[in-house]
Amino acid sequence: MKALVYVGPNKKAFEERPKPALLAPTDAIVKITRTTICGTDLHILKGDVPSCQPGRILGHEGVGIVDLAGPAVTAFKPGDRVLISCVSACGKCDFCRRLMYSHCTTGGWILGNTIDGTQADFVRIPHADMSLYAIPEGADEEALVLFSDILPTGHECGVLNGRVLPGATVAIVGAGPIGLAALLTAQFYSPAAIIMIDLDQGRLEDSRRFGATATVNSSDGSAVAAVMKLTGGLGVDTAIEAVGIPATFELCQQIVAAGGTLANIGVHGCKVDLHLELLWDRNISITTRLVDTVSTPMLLRTFHAKKLQPKELITHRFPFARILDAYDTFSNAAKTHALKVLIEA
Ligand SMILES: NC(=O)c1ccc[n+]([C@@H]2O[C@H](COP(=O)([O-])OP(=O)(O)OC[C@H]3O[C@@H](n4cnc5c(N)ncnc54)[C@H](O)[C@@H]3O)[C@@H](O)[C@H]2O)c1
Ligand SMILES: [Zn+2]
Ligand SMILES: [Zn+2]
Repeated sequence: MKALVYVGPNKKAFEERPKPALLAPTDAIVKITRTTICGTDLHILKGDVPSCQPGRILGHEGVGIVDLAGPAVTAFKPGDRVLISCVSACGKCDFCRRLMYSHCTTGGWILGNTIDGTQADFVRIPHADMSLYAIPEGADEEALVLFSDILPTGHECGVLNGRVLPGATVAIVGAGPIGLAALLTAQFYSPAAIIMIDLDQGRLEDSRRFGATATVNSSDGSAVAAVMKLTGGLGVDTAIEAVGIPATFELCQQIVAAGGTLANIGVHGCKVDLHLELLWDRNISITTRLVDTVSTPMLLRTFHAKKLQPKELITHRFPFARILDAYDTFSNAAKTHALKVLIEA
């Protein structure tokens, strides 16, 4: 089969690999019909994710058809159409029983990280019963790739952890796919205002289409003043960090209102200052989280009921044979205006 392989820092290859086999009775082999590329795949390619070693097939998002199911898989059989979760979960360990699938002792975020991933013709899915979701007849499979990672991430790490409430004010720093997924899912809870903050004017314009009530371009350094003006000098009840750099985590500290919540989503590669000297008396909470994908079934129900319409996040489409072009397009988002690139078998 063909697969996109991480060869080493700044090196990837589209090469021939053996088809995966079942390794445990709880595994399934899934034939991939659609996959996509995540910002995290680009982090891996830069060499930022040491757990992902050279030789690894990348990808932790996708939909497909069950090709083989191990003897202990009871929820799925060959021929079933399935959504693949970016997080694998045994459902039985102490962390899984606490709904922290991301910390499953024999799972978590392993796909396209410590085991081979979804940017291939076939993938092995461990703990298949808990890590796959059935796709109902007639569902729009294109949009479903957005449910493997970005929608549960924006919803769980940003919106749920950030305690977005009816009538509240929200700011989301970073209007990439994850920030936009937080923007879409925040609207379930009817906040009064959602302010999107980014450096990229194109992405801010996209945000308006996805429901932002205001946008702030932070490239001129006046983002704090702009947010204060929009919130009557109070700051926001929920500040969501969806970039993963010190400047944006510090911006969130400056715009969170007294009593508010700073919900971090970004993957941080270096240390960040926490200004407790300014925040100790502000009654704020700071949260961090690796996506657990526990809200995926709820998100899928809202999608099937047409309450969540994320499909416009897909800006480009490529056949699997052109996955290297898909990477080029996705890594040059400022020029290509790419949000999510769909890769189809
Ligand atoms: N916690 C989790 O489980 C989890 C899961 C998936 C992704 N992530 C992380 O979420 C973050 C966002 O992911 P993404 O795919 O949307 O990334 P992305 O790179 O596509 O988007 C980031 C956005 O931030 C903007 N930006 C950069 N610097 C900025 C600044 N100084 N001020 C304002 N905006 C700025 C960029 O213009 C871009 O639009 C990444 O760090 C990613 O690794 C976390
Ligand atoms: Zn991802
Ligand atoms: Zn577990």
